[in-house]
Amino acid sequence: MLKTEREIQNHISDNDDILTDRKGKDLSCKLTPRLQLIADKVLPGARVADIGTDHAYIPIYLITKGISNYVIASDVKKGPVEKAKDNVKKYNLMHRIDVRLGNGLEKVSLGEVDTVIIAGMGGVLIAEILSAAKSALKTIDRLILQPMVGQEEVRKWLINNHFKIVDEELVMEGSKIYNVIVAEHGEDKIEKEIFNYIGKKLVEKKDPLLKNLLIDRITELNKIIIQLENKDSRNAYLRLKECRARLMEYKCLQQSIMEGECNK
Ligand SMILES: C[S@@+](CC[C@H](N)C(=O)[O-])C[C@H]1O[C@@H](n2cnc3c(N)ncnc32)[C@H](O)[C@@H]1O
Repeated sequence: MLKTEREIQNHISDNDDILTDRKGKDLSCKLTPRLQLIADKVLPGARVADIGTDHAYIPIYLITKGISNYVIASDVKKGPVEKAKDNVKKYNLMHRIDVRLGNGLEKVSLGEVDTVIIAGMGGVLIAEILSAAKSALKTIDRLILQPMVGQEEVRKWLINNHFKIVDEELVMEGSKIYNVIVAEHGEDKIEKEIFNYIGKKLVEKKDPLLKNLLIDRITELNKIIIQLENKDSRNAYLRLKECRARLMEYKCLQQSIMEGECNK
């Protein structure tokens, strides 16, 4: 399982790329499935900020496909900003993609964009970036978030900060399943704790990958439970109790999906 932001970064560098030939020549600005799903959630005509843009593939795609006219591509690190600038130059899109160096949304002014993408980071970091940008978010209509881990942190943040999840979808790339969460201003509530971990929209929409996601989550949780069973502290005991309860909820959801299929 991916834990640190560095592990996430390395995982993405290994797995994500615009399709290139053996010499590295761009073949068609084609995105990988994860990035494609994120881009698909952008509404036509949106003015977008891609926070933690790294390679700037999404901004380049949105402009070249005519989905957006203007995109801010921002990153906290100089290396990714240089990479983004080089790619934007390669496509001659400097007049449409503004590459900026900054932490979270700090370099995005009020009203400059209506859509914010934050993808390829952990859920805790995404929630921190959103928390630091509360006033800027007032002028944002749509958040497109793709947490690599800790999806529950993002869902909890959204609910507690008057955002409603309007869409959620899963995508498989390689052997891994990714969540893309779309939120807009509004009120929502979590009726069951499990919906913090497995998005309610995925269940409502009967996402085709939901069964696979549950299998992955159950396998992961079983491994954690075995580790905790071998520990002898009060914290481990409390966490074990929590994990066993969540495991039951996952299995219950898995069962109800199977029964739903049987009753068709
Ligand atoms: C793993 S990459 C993801 C790149 C791209 N968004 C994607 O989904 O493929 C994470 C990027 O987020 C950037 N990043 C991390 N923390 C950030 C922050 N607080 N503000 C802006 N960018 C950040 C990193 O420098 C890195 O380029």
